[in-house]
Amino acid sequence: MELTILGIESSCDDTSAAVIRDGVLLSNIMASQKVHEAYGGVVPELASRAHQLNIVPVTDQALKAAGISIDEIDAIAFTRGPGLLGSLLVGTSFAKGLSLSTGKPLVEVNHLQGHILSHFVKEKGKDKKLPCFPFLTLLVSGGHTQIIRVDSPLDFTVLGQTIDDAAGEAFDKCAKVLGLGYPGGPVIDRLAKEGDPKRFKFAKPHIPGYDYSYSGVKTSLLYFLRDMLKEDPDFMEKNKADICASFQKTVIDILLDKLVKAAKDTGIREVAIAGGVSANSELRSRIVEESGKRGWTCHVPEFKFTTDNAAMIAITGYYKYMAGFRTGLDAAPVSRAANYCSATPGQSASGKAAAL
Ligand code: KG4
Ligand code: ZN
Repeated sequence: MELTILGIESSCDDTSAAVIRDGVLLSNIMASQKVHEAYGGVVPELASRAHQLNIVPVTDQALKAAGISIDEIDAIAFTRGPGLLGSLLVGTSFAKGLSLSTGKPLVEVNHLQGHILSHFVKEKGKDKKLPCFPFLTLLVSGGHTQIIRVDSPLDFTVLGQTIDDAAGEAFDKCAKVLGLGYPGGPVIDRLAKEGDPKRFKFAKPHIPGYDYSYSGVKTSLLYFLRDMLKEDPDFMEKNKADICASFQKTVIDILLDKLVKAAKDTGIREVAIAGGVSANSELRSRIVEESGKRGWTCHVPEFKFTTDNAAMIAITGYYKYMAGFRTGLDAAPVSRAANYCSATPGQSASGKAAAL
């Protein structure tokens, strides 16, 4: 029997809807919000308003591009958290309204689980090797930095995570200090290509286990610039590319050091990267290089699956639906979501917000 899932994503500043049938992507429509560029970061209220404007046309386009009508879907998967509450509220309310008007069941999805399972989205005509279980995922985004052991599509263990800033946040803050605009990651990535990654050294944290910390690296950059600018007011301008390349190398060294440790300790030799920062060209090439050296099988997502998208929500909804997960109309969005799975199969999400 065919299983068709409509996915809805609105956790931050991208409105997206996607249709997946039996794990194969039929459509994935995205509307990103340029309005935040002028403010140097996402403005939550503006994000919610843009989602309100975009969500109906984006969903309509996703169904049209998939060549199906709403009657042909089996369930509506939506991002319940984590994310910006106002943004999540738009997607959640829309999904609930659609469910109520069509009678189609709802399946809530954890955004982070979506990023991890984006590797399981199949596309027509593309021969893609799906990750084998168990594998380790380095989940790196603007809000999260985690190493996760994945034992099945619905069985996750967080081995380590950042105790302060996320890797994407470190990129964004570095870019802000250098006056490069928002989001900073892609600009640093571009400038770093012309710079010398060994020219400057920034402090690396000494955190036990598999946890990360990025606040010290950021402070180290700030102090370094303060000292250098005293000697030469044009220092930043003259050395931008080298600063970016050196900072990027430090961020990635830290990411990979812990991943290597986790792989060694667990004996798992299959690794994946996911989340916005997995678009970083240096991280992508370094993980491939590291995998070659260590005999790992490595999964690097296509660029379109690195940023927030509804295909990853639909594929997660697909696995959860098959496992019997359903969400009640009383489900409210949650800005912070600790666990990857919420209600147990068959249960409503009511009263489960804290456990999502
Ligand atoms: O996953 P995502 O789209 O949103 C969150 O859920 O946070 O990640 C956004 C983050 C931002 O911090 C952005 O600067 C970073 O991903 N990013 C990059 C690159 N592209 C996006 N960081 C480094 N290099 C990139 N090429
Ligand atoms: Zn994300």
